[in-house]
Amino acid sequence: MRTQVAIIGAGPAGLLLGQLLHKHGIDNVILERQTGDYVLSRVRAGVIEQVTQDLLDEAGVGARMHRDGLVHEGVQICVDGERHRISFKDLVGKTVMVYGQTELTKDLMDGRAAAGAPTIYSAHDVALHDIFSERPRITFRADGRAQDISCDFVAGCDGFHGVSRKSVPAGAITTNERVYPLGWLGILSETPPVSDELIYVRHPQGFALCSMRSPTRSRYYLQCSLAEDIESWPDERFWEELKPRLDEEARERLVTGPSIEKSIAPLRSFVAEPMRFGALFLAGDAAHIVPPTGAKGLNLAASDVQYLSRALAEYYAEKSRAGLEHYSERALARVWKAERFSWWMTMLMHRLSDNSFDHKIQLAELDYLFRSQAAATAFAENYVGLPY
Ligand code: FAD
Ligand code: PHB
Repeated sequence: MRTQVAIIGAGPAGLLLGQLLHKHGIDNVILERQTGDYVLSRVRAGVIEQVTQDLLDEAGVGARMHRDGLVHEGVQICVDGERHRISFKDLVGKTVMVYGQTELTKDLMDGRAAAGAPTIYSAHDVALHDIFSERPRITFRADGRAQDISCDFVAGCDGFHGVSRKSVPAGAITTNERVYPLGWLGILSETPPVSDELIYVRHPQGFALCSMRSPTRSRYYLQCSLAEDIESWPDERFWEELKPRLDEEARERLVTGPSIEKSIAPLRSFVAEPMRFGALFLAGDAAHIVPPTGAKGLNLAASDVQYLSRALAEYYAEKSRAGLEHYSERALARVWKAERFSWWMTMLMHRLSDNSFDHKIQLAELDYLFRSQAAATAFAENYVGLPY
């Protein structure tokens, strides 16, 4: 098989890149280790920045998001039982869209099917060869037989545990990492959300987040320890732990019910540098991870893909390598800003230690955020997403 761009991974990064390349008339094949149904069963991000929405529109897959997604003009932060609102609309004139990654992935898959572009699911033993040559190659097993693809470029969109980043010689890559001693236990339930807006909760017992997927479907998270066993979290225990962390109004409005999904995600900050190695370009979680507190993971995957799709389009249309040469530098400049914001928000909102000094500093910083127009504006700018 031969293609122009071989894409590893059918998560949001790989699917969106495939769609944008297709719009530019650039041939691409996606190789995905899992089945399509498995990819759609993963419940992850929920907040879509304006620039990501624009990119989804450009890819021709934004219609359902605009119809079913919820436009949020602000966010609420609850500190020890008292709620504060930060209005994006008033402070920076922008909004975000609450629309689940599962739905967005489905829209991208449907768009790809309509375009007739190939995705090979259940592709096993994917291996990258000759990435520093003019003729990179991918080998894999699918349908019970060994296959290979030769291409001009490889896009490594295969997430944090993927094969692409691991294929790079150790001396060519630098990694920067911080692992937090905590995770998020999340549940999805067919119950109305407690509020029209997301509530980020800072509480002595630990962080909580009240989010949503629709007016009838809620997504909640609780800070948990890394050693936590999901089996020891029946739904009743989750609701009982959540309630005391909420303010009185939210507690009264909370509708509990059976969970339809429950999972634990560890919190990590990670950046691999550079993001390009010869013909291999890393994008999304394959190159960097943010803790979910700032709602940036999916949006960063989209901004990488924006830079990469433009660079590849420029290369094929004008034979210019300028965008490809600058890809890593451009993407990383944006990545580090989101890393900073996500780290800052994580340190601000979680119970990180028993040290009363740490606790009081968090409260002082939150107080500053609520009192200072400059601090609130900086928060809003980062949350709604910086321009490309
Ligand atoms: P992924 O979505 O990870 O997609 C990578 C794809 O590559 C996967 O489909 C995988 O199966 C495939 N793949 C992996 N290895 C191979 C291989 N060897 N060969 C072929 N295919 C391969 N962000 C938020 O903003 N809010 C959240 O609440 C949130 N929760 C999260 C919870 C979890 C458990 C995780 C892991 C992430 C979460 N994120 C969240 C982050 C957000 O979901 C990611 O940033 C986003 O999915 C990145 O998209 P991606 O396409 O780069 O990677
Ligand atoms: C979610 O709805 O899943 C969600 C929202 C905001 C975050 C993280 C996750 O910061």
